Amino acid sequence: MRSPIGIFDSGYGGLTILSAIRKQLPQYDYIYLGDNARAPYGTRSFEVINDFTLQAVEYLFAEGCPLVILACNTASAKALREIQQHYLPFSQDPSRRVLGVIRPTVEAIEGFTETGHIGVVATPGTISSHSYEHEIAKLFPDVQVTGQACPMWVPLVEYGESQSPGADYFVRQYLEQLLAQDGDIDTLILACTHYPLLRPKIEAALPEHIKIISQGELVAASLEDYLQRHPEMEQRLSQGGGISYRTTECPEKFAELASIFTGTEVDAVRVRIAP
Ligand code: DGL
Repeated sequence: MRSPIGIFDSGYGGLTILSAIRKQLPQYDYIYLGDNARAPYGTRSFEVINDFTLQAVEYLFAEGCPLVILACNTASAKALREIQQHYLPFSQDPSRRVLGVIRPTVEAIEGFTETGHIGVVATPGTISSHSYEHEIAKLFPDVQVTGQACPMWVPLVEYGESQSPGADYFVRQYLEQLLAQDGDIDTLILACTHYPLLRPKIEAALPEHIKIISQGELVAASLEDYLQRHPEMEQRLSQGGGISYRTTECPEKFAELASIFTGTEVDAVRVRIAP
């Protein structure tokens, strides 16, 4: 039986990845799961993020998805390795796959930076994991990476304040802190799937010569490539072009904010994923 691809985020941020994936690969079916009742994840401990992410993955597997994308940097940074190494090999169906967003983003940075200095803005969880530094060092050992935690940015997006004048203050504050650490940065990775919603404000606050890398298209291209290289997985995916939205919070509230991300009307269902 063929089944949808599962896309997971702590809240609304993964919708930016979902939109890019659906644009690139409209033929497949998708289930989007937002753990909005427990978002944000970015300020939580390693163990908690691990537990919550595993519950989300188990939910999507139980719904039949053979492939799950962690459309969340925090979950990718904190839980992906644990799931790939210690959960999947011993699960009922070890041929299922879970992929993250960090590796595809890092693979694409070549050619972006001229100074060899890259800034990474992300949640405190992603920054403290040093995942970007580690992944970039493996592929581009000469590149210098400076991370900046932006703890207020996800709440601004989750509360629908990303366009408000109040958001300008927090956008500027963290970018100034980043550039004070390294003035040679010429490339900025938006390493949180919520941040594309703040992009107009980020662009306005950044010096013009700094290029922004946003993840949606990179993750979509990497998924397309993965499916071409893995026909055994591709053959397990259903192709009806459908999308089903699931949230752990109130579905009406989810639908209202999610439609800002997707630009279309959203119909959501509330689900429980905690045991
Ligand atoms: N969207 C998630 C990410 O990419 C973070 C949101 C959160 O803190 O829950 O990191």
